[in-house]
Amino acid sequence: MKILFLDQSGKPGGAELCLIDIAKPYGDRALVGLFADGSFKDLLQQNHIPVEVLATQAIQVRKESSLLQGFKSLGQLAPLITKVVKKAREYDLIYANTQKALVVGALASFFSRRPLVYHLHDILSQEHFSQTNLRIAVNLANRFASLVIANSQASKTAFVQAGGRPDIIEVVYNGFNPKIYQTDESDIKHLQQQLGLEGKFVVGHFSRLAPWKGQHILIDALAKCPHDVIAILVGDALFGEQDYVQKLHQQVSELGLENRVKFLGFRSDIPQLMAACDLVAHTSTSPEPFGRVIVEAMLCGKPVVAAKAGGAMELVEHGLNGFLVTPGKPQELARVIITCLQETEITATIANNAKTTASQRFDMTVINDYIAKLLVSKFRSLRHISSR
Ligand code: UDP
Ligand code: GLC
Repeated sequence: MKILFLDQSGKPGGAELCLIDIAKPYGDRALVGLFADGSFKDLLQQNHIPVEVLATQAIQVRKESSLLQGFKSLGQLAPLITKVVKKAREYDLIYANTQKALVVGALASFFSRRPLVYHLHDILSQEHFSQTNLRIAVNLANRFASLVIANSQASKTAFVQAGGRPDIIEVVYNGFNPKIYQTDESDIKHLQQQLGLEGKFVVGHFSRLAPWKGQHILIDALAKCPHDVIAILVGDALFGEQDYVQKLHQQVSELGLENRVKFLGFRSDIPQLMAACDLVAHTSTSPEPFGRVIVEAMLCGKPVVAAKAGGAMELVEHGLNGFLVTPGKPQELARVIITCLQETEITATIANNAKTTASQRFDMTVINDYIAKLLVSKFRSLRHISSR
């Protein structure tokens, strides 16, 4: 089966990293069409996945855009849609990985008569999107998609609550290669030395810097912890959240935490950095659709504390394979950090449990096979698909 994947982003967020794992097995039978240039393209190339940047001008619609802004952008989209329609004719199906990719993919699917799959990486609720964007996404998916793949039960539930068709949606969790998360002890020691983490209790936060990812909650919690607890914030403002970055730095200096919070920016050595931590914190203040970082921490054998909402609640069972805290409550987070600092044995047992179960539950090979089966069973009946 030949697949045209579409993604609007030039930068590697979680949805894009997930797409790399899904597209890779298809080799030359796949093409990833991007609507922006950037480091995501480089990552795809490093993974030997064919990629083309199909739009040179950024699409102006944002998560909170109104209907009028949406209409204005349609004119802007016309050349892109024409290009995608032409490309799609060389492929058996269109696989839209983001919302703007859904808009373009839906129209291209109509004109090229190719089936459409929509991989839903978002919780389609008003907490995350404007009413207009919600309506557009749900209506296009209902009308044009043969299959919607939701990254969690939480994303599926929100889709159906927003009026999405329950008969076309399947939940498929992100898959991971557990081997990537096995790290070398000497590399970790070196990293700890380099970053000045030795002798500290290190809480790692691995996420793009954005208000709803809640880095500010961890900083507040840190101020309530003993002085040997420090934090590393790994990630960059991928989508222009510079104001938030400034606020975080201000918060750190107001609380006098300059020596206890390290901003490391975007990094590609996540498994090594996680291994150098004592605890990984996930602090999203709005429900997390899935939360790759939670699973990655588990695969590294590190204890994880996550905000109790959305997909995170499907990944973590409090006290069994991690810890859950109320979103937006630094005091509660501080209490868990202190428990992990003091109760090392039970915490290590929990982390070990998590490692074992996560490597089975989120095995990339199994998950990729499942996606392939879903695609084949949905499209077997469609005449233009050749059995390549
Ligand atoms: N990540 C990364 N480098 C960084 C920060 C994050 O590669 O500096 C990765 C992280 O390991 C995870 C992904 O980015 O795989 C973020 O995915 P997640 O689902 O946690 O959140 P999203 O940003 O997609 O909402
Ligand atoms: C999105 C979501 C995140 C999820 C990722 C992969 O970026 O925000 O929660 O883990 O997609 O599905």
